[in-house]
Amino acid sequence: MVEGLEARGWVCLEGFLGESEARALAAECHGAREAGDFRKARVGRGPEKVIREDIRRDEVLWLENDTAGPAASRYLARLDGLRQAINQRLFLGLFDFEGHFAVYPPGAFYKAHLDRHRGTADRVVTAILYLNDGWVPDDGGRLKIWTTPGARDGPIEWIEPRLGTLVVFLAGEHWHEVEVARRTRASVTGWFRVRA
Ligand code: OGA
Ligand code: MN
Repeated sequence: MVEGLEARGWVCLEGFLGESEARALAAECHGAREAGDFRKARVGRGPEKVIREDIRRDEVLWLENDTAGPAASRYLARLDGLRQAINQRLFLGLFDFEGHFAVYPPGAFYKAHLDRHRGTADRVVTAILYLNDGWVPDDGGRLKIWTTPGARDGPIEWIEPRLGTLVVFLAGEHWHEVEVARRTRASVTGWFRVRA
């Protein structure tokens, strides 16, 4: 994984999380959503944060160490191991991870963007784990990622949001978007950060 990140700036690993662990995480995600804990995702930051349904239509629940369920806690611990492995090899100085469950209801999408807020540089590496059992091409909802750093033309990869697949990329380099999902689409999405 770290080699792929170093060589290309992005990497996709199917089966990063085993089925039973990924299902447990999916159950926590859907349980929290049914309990009404999610809210519409926003764009921008600080006082400029707004709901923009023309840009994104997912709903999110931020993960906090003290309120996360057991499967989410185990996944956060695993990501911390990944953070240390990245630091050892790439010297990025990543110091923490901030992330959320994301649910795309049918019809939801997220238009092309970079994962870095204007005028900031704290989000360095994006990590997305998909939680969708039995996802088929007709369900849509693929991640489209432009593989050339900084470019929004040129080669593209399409990633299906299948249970246990992890995608990792340099947050400020790779443009990406989520095509319309035709079925409820769940993930854990977040960012390894450096100190601002
Ligand atoms: C994001 C994002 C992509 C995905 O939340 O910033 O780009 O595949 N998500 O869910
Ligand atoms: Mn993004």
